[in-house]
Parts: sequence; structure tokens; C-alpha cells
Amino acid sequence: MAREDSSRIPRGPAGPGLYGERVFRPQDEGEAERIDLGALVYDASTFARLRELGAGPGMRCLDVGAGTGTVARLLLREAGVAEVVAVDRDIRFLAGERVAGLTALEADVTSPGFSPGLFDLVHARFVLMHLPSPARMVERLAGLLVPGGVLVLSDAVDLTTESAPRTPYTTAMRAMWLGLRETIGTDVSWVPGCPWLMVAAGLEAVAAEIHVPPLLPGSPISRFWAETWDRARAAMVGTGLVDDAGIDEAKRCLESPEYAGMSPGMLTTWGRRPATPS
Ligand SMILES: C[S@@+](CC[C@H](N)C(=O)[O-])C[C@H]1O[C@@H](n2cnc3c(N)ncnc32)[C@H](O)[C@@H]1O
Repeated sequence: MAREDSSRIPRGPAGPGLYGERVFRPQDEGEAERIDLGALVYDASTFARLRELGAGPGMRCLDVGAGTGTVARLLLREAGVAEVVAVDRDIRFLAGERVAGLTALEADVTSPGFSPGLFDLVHARFVLMHLPSPARMVERLAGLLVPGGVLVLSDAVDLTTESAPRTPYTTAMRAMWLGLRETIGTDVSWVPGCPWLMVAAGLEAVAAEIHVPPLLPGSPISRFWAETWDRARAAMVGTGLVDDAGIDEAKRCLESPEYAGMSPGMLTTWGRRPATPS
């Protein structure tokens, strides 16, 4: 697998860049597989929640930052929705298998001209945490709902890294969050407040839940973090919090049955656009 070279990461006044440019580049070998490992961890709970919220026949859906399209395909094949527009800034991972009802749309959801129409269901998983101005994004995505439509947003929450005993694993996690923030602007600090952003965006029946997968050796989440650290290695080392040997030691924690750390998890928040204007 290709590793990032720290000398390639631009530093200095330019500030944070974009997801997929300085880290997690779609053209790098294995990036689709890394996204799929995350999907393997979270698709079941995402899909259960979407079904619970009424995803089913006749619905028109938007999957924002659709990645490899696993949620879009589940909605079409298992929930029988009518249509999914899967939007991503790079749609190469959506180009493969053809599925009836699936439209791949290459677009930057932060651009002012992004206007894909109105939907019964708008979903985004692990996307807003990488974008600037989450409050503005929540408002924008809420504005894409038909009356009665539902917005479902999932992003990462890290419940333990700061408070758990300092280990190579928690040090690597801290370096990862800081490194991603410095290079591509990733920020998970607002995520626990997402329900309030939905309320502020005029949505109702707002609620949230958290899923934290167990960190077991060889599990998809352990493999996901190992892959993610390899891709973000330069950004992590650039923070000065960790070096290459420290990251390798943290990866050994992931493989050890003795290691008892907790993974960051996924907070899912949902809310509905009022059926009639108040
Ligand atoms: C961490 S991946 C998550 C993929 C998928 N949602 C999942 O959970 O399996 C983030 C995705 O968001 C896309 N993305 C990031 N910034 C974007 C933007 N500004 N507009 C559209 N897509 C974006 C990336 O290209 C990537 O596919």
C-alpha cells in the first residue's frame, strides 16, 4: 500500500485543504478498500436507522459524500427506494456496478451552486466532519428536504482519547485528529452538538444515537484505523505528537488481544422538515 510522504504535505499559511487532496486521495491505491472497511463497520446500524425512519418504496434519496456507494445500494436493493442520487466530489468509486435507480453526481456539496433538487431523505456519513462550517452545511442539507422529509447525519465522536490512560494508541489517535485538522480541516468537536444544529435549521423530532464498535484484533474497525493512520501518517507525524515508530507501536496495540482501548464511534442525528410550514 502506498504511504504518504511527509515532505509532500504543504505547510504554512495555506491552512487546511480539502478532503481527498492532501490526505485520503481517491487515486491512492487501497482508498476504496479503506472506505469499505468503515462501511463494513457501520452499514448495519446506518441501514437499521434509515429503515426505522421510514426509508422505503417510492422515496427519493440523496446520499452526500457517498464514497463507494454502499448505503446508496442498500437503500435501493434492500429498502426498495425509488431513486438515490449519490453525490461525491470524486465519483470514481461509484462508477463500477450499475444499479437501477442510482445516479452518481460529481459535485462539491460546499459550492454555492450545489442544487440537486428536493428529497424525501438526505443522508451524509463521515462527511460534514471534514467540511468547513458544519452549521451552514446542516442548514443547506435541511433545505434539500421536501416537507416531511428526513435529514440523517452521522459523524465521528471520540469519547475516550483525551480522558483514557496515555498509550501509544491514544497518542496516535490524538495525533490523527490534530493532523487531519491541520491538513484538511477535519473537526469532530461540534459533532455532539449536531442535534442543536438541526433544531436551529428548523427541523423537528430531532434525536440522536451513538454506535461505538468494539476494538478487537483483526476486526474491520481495527483494520480501518491501521489503514487510516498509514494514509494520514505524514499529517500525524507533522503534529510533533508522534513519530513513525510510535504509529507502528499504536498499530501493534490494535493487533493485541491485551489492548483494551475504545474506538471512536459514530453519532447519528436525525430530524424532519415540518410537514406544514409553522
Ligand atoms: C470518509 S468518506 C465517507 C464515505 C461514505 N459516506 C461512507 O460513510 O462510507 C468521505 C466522502 O465524502 C466525500 N467528500 C468530501 N468532501 C466532499 C465535498 N466537499 N463534496 C462532496 N463530497 C465530498 C469524499 O470524496 C468521500 O467519498
